[in-house]
Amino acid sequence: MAVDPSVFRTSPIVNFGAGQLNNLAEEVKFLGGEKVFIVTDEGLRSAGLVDRAEAILAAENIDFHTRENPAQEPSVSLINSTADEMREYGADVVIGLGGGSSMDTSQIAGCAVTNRASVEEIIGVHLVKVPGLPNIAIPTTAGTASEVTGNAVTVLNDSSNKQPVISPHIYPDVAIVDPELTLGLPARVTAASGIDAFCHATESFLSTNATIMTKMFARESMGIILDNLPIAYSNGTDINARTGQMMGALLAGYTLANAGVTIIHATAHVIGARYKVPHGIANAICLVPVFRFYAQKVPGRMAELAGPLGVSDSVSDPQDRADHVINIVEKLVSDIGIDTRLSTYGILEDDIPEMARLTAESERLQLQSPAQATAEEVESMLRAAF
Ligand SMILES: [Fe+2]
Repeated sequence: MAVDPSVFRTSPIVNFGAGQLNNLAEEVKFLGGEKVFIVTDEGLRSAGLVDRAEAILAAENIDFHTRENPAQEPSVSLINSTADEMREYGADVVIGLGGGSSMDTSQIAGCAVTNRASVEEIIGVHLVKVPGLPNIAIPTTAGTASEVTGNAVTVLNDSSNKQPVISPHIYPDVAIVDPELTLGLPARVTAASGIDAFCHATESFLSTNATIMTKMFARESMGIILDNLPIAYSNGTDINARTGQMMGALLAGYTLANAGVTIIHATAHVIGARYKVPHGIANAICLVPVFRFYAQKVPGRMAELAGPLGVSDSVSDPQDRADHVINIVEKLVSDIGIDTRLSTYGILEDDIPEMARLTAESERLQLQSPAQATAEEVESMLRAAF
């Protein structure tokens, strides 16, 4: 088998496991931090997680300043004001504590500070010229995997779409991936973030950028998520399921960062930006319609998902194997209680053609997709989900 040249990037240090948050002060010292800026969201203070992180720093006499942003995907102006506060405080290490929004905000703002730039100037691919402030990412959901990706997302101020800052400098220097931090997550957040991770694993497996290394992580990830997500959803205090789900999301992050996602995420970004539908829910809505499209266009590629998802070898026809995959995915989405009808989330039927047009124009994700979709094809996927 020919092995193509490839590049694999990830965060250099990953602390994984229950209780690993206790390594926080040690990791701050490793990065030379004396003035630590924590980016988090308001909900995590009441959940007690911010207090835990602060207490660990205080016990080691490390100076810190905490900014609690609203718990929503960050706009360009919100990240700019976070960067201003980092400059004012003189931060030398930044911590992103929370879901993707807090981690992404900390990463983009930390890069804006060292690059003496506004967020607008670094949106895009490889526009970050020098490394950001040293960054520690601490996820409190098992989904976005921002702790190991070089892609951080912001919502444009006019809410028309989301735009990424993509750069090797976005990768955090240290990740602390502690499943104990997810024990208190509500079931609906467990479901939404979990299906996001499942999309990262499966989409990046199908991506035209997939390599032997990314497929290895993706294969492992999708099986772990399939086994653990329904349990973590129905019994949130099951630490074994939470740990499995956190590992599944982490592995999905490795492959997401290096192979990228496809039309599910392209459509979900448009829905999420226009209607404030949570990212994972928007992915769940698009997941099965896009997989049906792929099963039609590239059944052989879809059939490759069958083995990792446990389809028996006795099913040999690629089309049959692709159909089994779709049944398994439909069951997963239903087992975790996500309503996948667009109409439930206030999406207007008249808006579907425009959303389809914007999705079809997502050039980067279209190129990564195993089959490219026209605006008309995206429109029929969205109509199927209405
Ligand atoms: Fe995602």
